[in-house]
Amino acid sequence: MSSFREDGAAAVEWVASYLERVSDLPVLSQAEPGDIRATLPRSPPDEPEPFSSVLRDLDTVLLPGLTHWQSPRFFAYFAATGSEPGVLAELLIAGLNQVGILWRTSPALQELEEVTLDWLAQLLGLPSEFHGHIEDTASTGVLSALAVARAVRPGHRVVLCSEHAHSAADKAAKLLELELRKVPVDDEFRLRPELLELDDACAVIATIGTTGAAAIDPIPEIADACEAAGVWLHVDAAYAGSAAVCPELRPLFTDWERADSIGVNPHKWLGVPMDCSALWSRRPDDFRRTFSLVPEFLQSPDDAVNLSELSIPLGRRFRALKLWAVLRCFGRTGLQERIREHMRLASLFEGWVRDEPGWEIVAPRHFSLVCFRREGADEENERLLEKVNASGEAFISHARLGDRYALRLAIGNFRTSEDDLRLAWDVLNREAAVL
Ligand SMILES: Cc1ncc(COP(=O)(O)O)c(C=O)c1O
Repeated sequence: MSSFREDGAAAVEWVASYLERVSDLPVLSQAEPGDIRATLPRSPPDEPEPFSSVLRDLDTVLLPGLTHWQSPRFFAYFAATGSEPGVLAELLIAGLNQVGILWRTSPALQELEEVTLDWLAQLLGLPSEFHGHIEDTASTGVLSALAVARAVRPGHRVVLCSEHAHSAADKAAKLLELELRKVPVDDEFRLRPELLELDDACAVIATIGTTGAAAIDPIPEIADACEAAGVWLHVDAAYAGSAAVCPELRPLFTDWERADSIGVNPHKWLGVPMDCSALWSRRPDDFRRTFSLVPEFLQSPDDAVNLSELSIPLGRRFRALKLWAVLRCFGRTGLQERIREHMRLASLFEGWVRDEPGWEIVAPRHFSLVCFRREGADEENERLLEKVNASGEAFISHARLGDRYALRLAIGNFRTSEDDLRLAWDVLNREAAVL
């Protein structure tokens, strides 16, 4: 155990110093395909090695192959944060190594998961009738919701979503042999509800905060249509859902509580390290009827519903512990502060783009994602993106919005400051000037 204590202290020290220096590292890994593999031994070691050699190789071998999601200048896709309480909780989770297959195999895991999801629902303003559990990712949440929707509406094999919905919808429909129909969007990239044809449908996926432009589908009209037709409504708020912790942003979520199921990723914008995806439903019995399968060897006399009866995997990690740690160590006010700061920074950046000749904003901004571009050809913007990312000073990504190529700058890392944002803007302007 003494080496465990020493190695443990060294590992925590490694993470602490990594977090201090991460903003000096190139955000996007500058490795070429195969570079990292070439520096790794072809075969596993025969003899035991000390843990210190793992830490050493983390620095010398793996670090060049890491894209730094913990960097304050990670602005690509949807930025994320492994916050300090979340990181420490991951250590405890591994130390405890709970395997939640039945309530009795870890009563604390199951009950903490239900309580933290209830807390999170309260923080986001969702009503108490929602029952929540944790999935690994929003993709699994979409797959699970569609599996339930298919089961409760036999003979209806169509799923509808906007053409801007996440590709998780395509994957889930493919796996479940459902037909996915993409509904066109309006000029603000929102699903056009008057085009919903629900006769053969079992589900609609509506998104609050689409991946490309963080657009908001018109939930009230979609919910009306789904209710009238008896169709399951899943609201995918994987990225944006965390923003509902701020009451002033709740109007962006109008009527989302009318959904049958809702997915939000605390591993995106709430400081919980990957992975932790919340899935709530107001119809947990339908989840149970769809997923419950308790073979003889798992029968128990306990008067408790096992969370494994509401989801695909049997064994579950103690993810609730890291969500609990984050909710406690930041509190409602700490989380609100961070979301508000990101909203402020996004508004600032949007202003810089608007005020600078040669640049344009290409989508309305609701959350902390700014979609913009250089006036001119798509190819020029594509080259600009490559140049900025190759510099290692900031990492941004792109989307195709309608027929236009857009640059996306997503603020979501708790460590991002106004100076980081200014630096990214300077890099964009510097690289644009030399194109
Ligand atoms: C709107 C939306 N839904 C779903 C996903 C998929 O998330 P996950 O990686 O948790 O499966 C994303 C990822 O960015 C997303 O933006």
